[in-house]
Amino acid sequence: MKTALSAHATALLPLTVRDLVLRVDKATVLDGVNLDLGGRGCTMIMGANGAGKSLLLKLLHGLMPSTSGRISWGEHAPSEVTARQALVFQKPVLLRRSVAANIDFVLKARGKDMTRRDALLEHVGLSHKAGQPARLLSGGEAQRLALARALATDPEVLLLDEPTASLDPASVLAIESIVSEACSRGVRIIFVTHDIGQARRIADDVVFLHRGRVAEHTAAATFFPEPHSDAARNYLSGKIVV
Ligand SMILES: Nc1ncnc2c1ncn2[C@@H]1O[C@H](COP(=O)(O)OP(=O)(O)OP(=O)(O)O)[C@@H](O)[C@H]1O
Ligand SMILES: [Mg+2]
Repeated sequence: MKTALSAHATALLPLTVRDLVLRVDKATVLDGVNLDLGGRGCTMIMGANGAGKSLLLKLLHGLMPSTSGRISWGEHAPSEVTARQALVFQKPVLLRRSVAANIDFVLKARGKDMTRRDALLEHVGLSHKAGQPARLLSGGEAQRLALARALATDPEVLLLDEPTASLDPASVLAIESIVSEACSRGVRIIFVTHDIGQARRIADDVVFLHRGRVAEHTAAATFFPEPHSDAARNYLSGKIVV
């Protein structure tokens, strides 16, 4: 049996974000974000709807430029290292081909060892669906295939944007277990979620965004019992403040 995944030490960290501003249609949606992330672990990004979490992930991944400010992955700008990271969206983007062909496509495009496909499918519990069209997968299965495709690229950083929204509890735990395993191999995880239970289970630290700014960045052990900011306190207690 081939090993699906390898251990990593990434040179893309630390991540440094300085005075990051993004204006879209005259609205300032990121308003001076500053952030420092170290070499290992799982960072959860939390915050109310519209706080700027998804846009921040897209900027970190190099998919769009900021209006001003700077992002550095180690010595690199995001657009120079997009291929060394993988971004998984809330709604999985899959090819209209078989489950196996979805993995083959990524392995081939990236020049990876094609014989890893079966091990990758086994890793995410989809071996029995290999020949089935990907469009027939359930939401949780599709998200596991999206994760397998992301892992097939051997990312040094895995960016996840609400990958378990609308999944059942067993599917949520299955995704968390795959992500935690990647984290333990040294893949740097940056994970957007609204699921407080999930954040408690897997976060090492929490970045709380409020109105396009970092309201706080705190170790998980402190964040949940004693958030420093009013914005995070309100969010955790279920008060809506936009
Ligand atoms: N292409 C766009 N054009 C105009 N405004 C946009 C665009 N994309 C996002 N926005 C706005 O930017 C703000 C931040 O959006 P973003 O998607 O980052 O929020 P979010 O924190 O991910 O929210 P959610 O929790 O609902 O996913 C929102 O007010 C949104 O309406
Ligand atoms: Mg979002």
